[in-house]
Order: sequence, then structure tokens, then C-alpha cells
Amino acid sequence: MGDITYGLEGKIAVVTGGSRGIGLEIAHELVRQKARVVICGRKQENLDAAAAELGSENVMTFQAHIAKEGEVEELFRRIMEAYPGIDILINNVGMNLMTPAIPDTDFTMWQKIIETNLNGTYLCSRAASRVMRAQGRGAIVNVSSIAGRKASPAMGIYGIAKAGVEMLTRVMASELAQSGVRVNAVAPGMVRTDFSKPFWSNPDLCSHIVKTIPLGRIAEPMDVVHPVLFLASEASAFITGQTILVDGGATAV
Ligand SMILES: NC(=O)c1ccc[n+]([C@@H]2O[C@H](COP(=O)([O-])OP(=O)(O)OC[C@H]3O[C@@H](n4cnc5c(N)ncnc54)[C@H](OP(=O)(O)O)[C@@H]3O)[C@@H](O)[C@H]2O)c1
Repeated sequence: MGDITYGLEGKIAVVTGGSRGIGLEIAHELVRQKARVVICGRKQENLDAAAAELGSENVMTFQAHIAKEGEVEELFRRIMEAYPGIDILINNVGMNLMTPAIPDTDFTMWQKIIETNLNGTYLCSRAASRVMRAQGRGAIVNVSSIAGRKASPAMGIYGIAKAGVEMLTRVMASELAQSGVRVNAVAPGMVRTDFSKPFWSNPDLCSHIVKTIPLGRIAEPMDVVHPVLFLASEASAFITGQTILVDGGATAV
């Protein structure tokens, strides 16, 4: 897939959680497409390692916890100091804690998962969409999960947060369409990253999961990258408010 181009040369793209996993692969592809890329994360050492790996003068890194309003406001203030605008926001940050059935959860678990997955996506979307609305153009792509579509064991609160991300996608798409801003999402099934290592590194569990996927394997981060770039580019100019499921057919059967 190395020769696909999306017309993103010179575009300013912000990738939250761009220091590892899917976000880092998205950043790699954006660099290959000659975009100007901003990545953010909580840990400076992860950002430094990612910047070294990306090895491009078109990459900037900023430390920010996306669930903290003040840090997100400061992140976007600094981005706007460095660049004249924002063309693309990829809301990639997400986290899960294995959670018991809802009656057995505690409120701290609920808050932590909702804060990062839903509040964080809202805060970054709000900040970027203010810039995009004023510019009269922009594309936001949210990274959701099939857990937002079907109730999955140990992922209850996470799934609720991701369902919220999908509704945020549709609400913002309808509100911002007239301003030239499109908002879409991708919803992967299991992808081979640190995040899901407890699942794919367990051979029995992994082969059980693979049996539920018609395409017969779990996703690699690159499987998610191209749908994200498609939604971020003019190739999807007439698509807004949609979620592409990147799950090897798991939810089709
Ligand atoms: N992997 C899967 O199986 C899978 C399946 C479906 C959906 N997804 C979704 O795909 C997205 C990416 O997942 P991944 O597997 O690539 O995750 P990952 O490997 O755990 O990477 C997460 C990235 O986000 C950053 N991050 C985490 N919390 C943050 C916060 N509060 N503020 C700022 N940065 C933060 C991390 O850097 P720091 O640790 O330095 O902050 C890292 O760069 C998530 O939205 C996830 O829900 C993943």
C-alpha cells in the first residue's frame, strides 16, 4: 500500500497519542505523505523516541494529557503559535481498564475511562473545531472501537465511552458541515499494539478471537492507518458523520 497518495502535502495534522501504537503508525504515514505533523502524549520520553523514529523536520511534539482542559487549551494555543492553522485532527488517544460487570464497578474506574476516551476526545475536538470553523475547512477523524457497537466482556465502560465518541462524531458533523469541517470515525476490532497485548499475546484467547473474524487474523496498526487517512483527505470530501468499521468483517456476521 506504500504508493497510495492522499494529497496531504503541507497539511497540518495533529495526532493525539501519536507516540506509540496506531497513532505512531498514522504519524509515520502522514510524514510519508509530506504533511506537517504534531503528535502529543503524556510522557516526554515516548514523544522523544517517536520523534527520533519519525526522523523528520516536519514533526513537532507536545506533552499534554488530553483529559485535562487546561493542558488541551495550552496544547492548541502552542500549535497555533507554531502554525497558521489546523487542517486535520486525529483523535487517537484511548485507554481501557479491564472492568467487571457494571454493578461491580467503582466510580473511579468509570471516571478514568470516560475521562480519557470521551472527555479527552471532546476537549481536543472542541479546541480544533474552533480553529477549523474560523478557517472554513478541516477534517476530524476519531478513533473509536467496535466495543462501542457491541457489548463486550471486560470492556463495558470503554464501550460506553466509544459509543459516546461515535455520537460526538455525528453531532459535530451535523453542526460543522456548513463551515466546511467534516467529522468521521474509524472503529477497529483488535489491533496488535501494547493496548491489546493481554488479548493477542495469550494464544488461546487470540485464536478464539481470530475465529470470530472472517478475514482470519487480527489487525495490524497499518490496517487502521489508511481508512484514517482516507477520511482525513479530500478523497472522502462528501462523507461526514460516518464511522468505518475496520474489523475484518467481525461485526458483519
Ligand atoms: N489496540 C486495539 O486493539 C484497539 C482496538 C480498537 C480501538 N483502539 C483504539 O485505538 C486508539 C489507539 O490505541 P493503541 O492501541 O494505539 O493505544 P496505545 O498503544 O496504548 O497508545 C496510546 C497512545 O496514546 C497516548 N496516551 C494515552 N493516554 C493519553 C492521555 N490521557 N493524554 C495524551 N496521550 C495519551 C500514549 O502515550 P503516553 O502513554 O505517553 O501518554 C500513546 O501514544 C485508541 O483510541 C483505542 O481505544 C485500539
